[in-house]
Amino acid sequence: MEQIIRLHDKRFKVMIPAARIDEVVEAVAERINRDYAGKETPIFLGVLNGSFMFFSDLIKKIEFNSEISFVKLASYAGTASTGEVRSLIGLNGSIEGRHIIVVEDIVDTGESIAHMVAELTKHRPASVEICTLFFKPASYRKQIPIRYAAMEIGNEFIVGYGLDYDQLGRSLKDIYVVTEEE
Ligand code: IMP
Ligand code: MG
Repeated sequence: MEQIIRLHDKRFKVMIPAARIDEVVEAVAERINRDYAGKETPIFLGVLNGSFMFFSDLIKKIEFNSEISFVKLASYAGTASTGEVRSLIGLNGSIEGRHIIVVEDIVDTGESIAHMVAELTKHRPASVEICTLFFKPASYRKQIPIRYAAMEIGNEFIVGYGLDYDQLGRSLKDIYVVTEEE
């Protein structure tokens, strides 16, 4: 019997079990291991909060020396009517001349990642690549290549394994999707 969970006003059911997540994390880690072998020590830059679980599983599968760091995109309503102002917080220490691998939970429209890459580029890194657990190609509206997408999905809303619905669901080990089922 399928387990239905409730988060706030919605119900969710399992879409991707933990064992399948582990397989796609393994596959993307292998690609990164191949591509970065022999390069100067890269920095894995996790985007909080959503990436924390993916980040920790991914990094355990990385076979070269690396540094790790975490950033957050703080969004708050701007005073201007144009809406959101977002600032990158937590970027301590220089990334100039360094290879950066940004680790995200999910890339949807690409707004967040485009903002992130623009901010990071100001600090003159040697390279910036994106590694995301989930990618929604049908809603992506940016040009920045998503080099490492562990898994592509449709436009459904998912939670679990770090991803939240209004802050709930992050601790779930499987990925859940919204359902109308009782
Ligand atoms: P983007 O800026 O439109 O690419 O959206 C990225 C952010 O939206 C992610 O970092 C998530 O916080 C959130 N997001 C997008 N789709 C989902 C989803 O299916 N579940 C949970 N959060 C999502
Ligand atoms: Mg996020």
